[in-house]
Amino acid sequence: MLPSLFCTFLVIFLLHNPSCIDSRGNPGFALTQPVETTQDYNNYTWHNFKSFLNAGRGSHVSGMSELKRYFHHFGYLQLRDFDNITDIFDARFESAVFRYQAKVGLPITGKLDSDTLSQIMAPRCGVPDTVQKLHASRNYVYFPGKPRWSRHIPMNLTYAFSPENLISYLSLSDIKKVFKRAFARWGSVIPVSFIETDDYGFADIKIGFYSGDHGDGEPFDGVLGVLAHSFSPESGRFHLDAAETWAVDFESEKSKVAVDLESVAVHEIGHLLGLAHSSVNEAVMYPSLKPGKKKVDLSVDDIQGVQALYGSNPNFTLGSLLESDISTNHALHPRLRSSKWPTLIAALTLMLYLCM
Ligand SMILES: *[C@@H]1O[C@H](CO)[C@@H](O)[C@H](O)[C@H]1NC(C)=O
Ligand SMILES: *[C@@H]1O[C@H](CO)[C@@H](O)[C@H](O)[C@H]1NC(C)=O
Ligand SMILES: *[C@@H]1O[C@H](CO)[C@@H](O)[C@H](O)[C@H]1NC(C)=O
Ligand SMILES: *[C@@H]1O[C@H](CO)[C@@H](O)[C@H](O)[C@H]1NC(C)=O
Ligand SMILES: [Zn+2]
Ligand SMILES: [Zn+2]
Repeated sequence: MLPSLFCTFLVIFLLHNPSCIDSRGNPGFALTQPVETTQDYNNYTWHNFKSFLNAGRGSHVSGMSELKRYFHHFGYLQLRDFDNITDIFDARFESAVFRYQAKVGLPITGKLDSDTLSQIMAPRCGVPDTVQKLHASRNYVYFPGKPRWSRHIPMNLTYAFSPENLISYLSLSDIKKVFKRAFARWGSVIPVSFIETDDYGFADIKIGFYSGDHGDGEPFDGVLGVLAHSFSPESGRFHLDAAETWAVDFESEKSKVAVDLESVAVHEIGHLLGLAHSSVNEAVMYPSLKPGKKKVDLSVDDIQGVQALYGSNPNFTLGSLLESDISTNHALHPRLRSSKWPTLIAALTLMLYLCM
């Protein structure tokens, strides 16, 4: 199977037009611009968003066409080259808003209410959201064709940092520590070992910080907005927006726009392994992350999703997750901490079933 080059990532973890995705099934696509509209979303004037408040079907608001391009970029609205993109909130755009609200877990109003607009404005991952059917029984999502690293299990995957594409204000050793922890979180639940190497050219996973247009057809957009993106298996490309204020520690980095490097790393590694965006808010595969926030612990949804691709690490038990969760006593896994035993048992049963 050819690697699909999904631009996946994170400031906001964003979505893509499925038709664009299909046209990118070939690695050669990266240097061509598939649809003229993908670049335009970088020019959003976010302060204009106030004028969209409570717009619904039939509304005509100057700048709505930009919002349509945003929905197109992240996979909620199909736009063809010959479409006349107007500022009118039409029926197709309303369907796109429905799909978006369902995906991100908002009340499905079909209107640009304040919750919906704030969600749109939150920083996110640049990878398009794969829109799933409403009422699906699971929340984790794969890329089309369900690609994963195809070598024998247990497998080793190597990773390296691009020596020319680092950021000056963080030391390489700090960056390495963050990524080591991020990879270990996934490595503890699946039989995959992640091994750091200095041989960038031969590494399976290639990590670097890039600014603006960096040659893969998915230019970065400056501070916030899109934070990072990575590609589905077995591409291994992991790009972070060099314009962000990346933080390894919010005690020492007090900027209002600081983004937690480890949280973004954990999210992007999920894409590299084959997970697309989840609509579960606690999942690390949820597409957006606010500045100053840390979300590094895998949720049950993330674990089920990745274990269905690779199987379980023999050393992993859901019980150990539960124990460490209770002993550390913080609220990152509200689903586990509340008395939702039926959910847990269902999760366990599903995992056993998937391992057979
Ligand atoms: C963004 O807008 C500016 C001015 O309006 C323009 O010069 C620039 O080319 C635009 N950038 C993109 C990527 O469209
Ligand atoms: C696009 O819409 C504008 C304004 O409604 C109109 O003037 C123009 O002729 C339309 N173009 C096409 C190709 O339909
Ligand atoms: C994985 O790497 C370790 C050493 O880091 C090696 O001992 C082991 O044989 C490797 N496994 C595979 C499947 O390549
Ligand atoms: C499980 O744990 C043992 C002991 O810590 C370790 O040697 C082994 O490599 C682990 N297995 C996997 C698949 O991580
Ligand atoms: Zn993402
Ligand atoms: Zn890139």
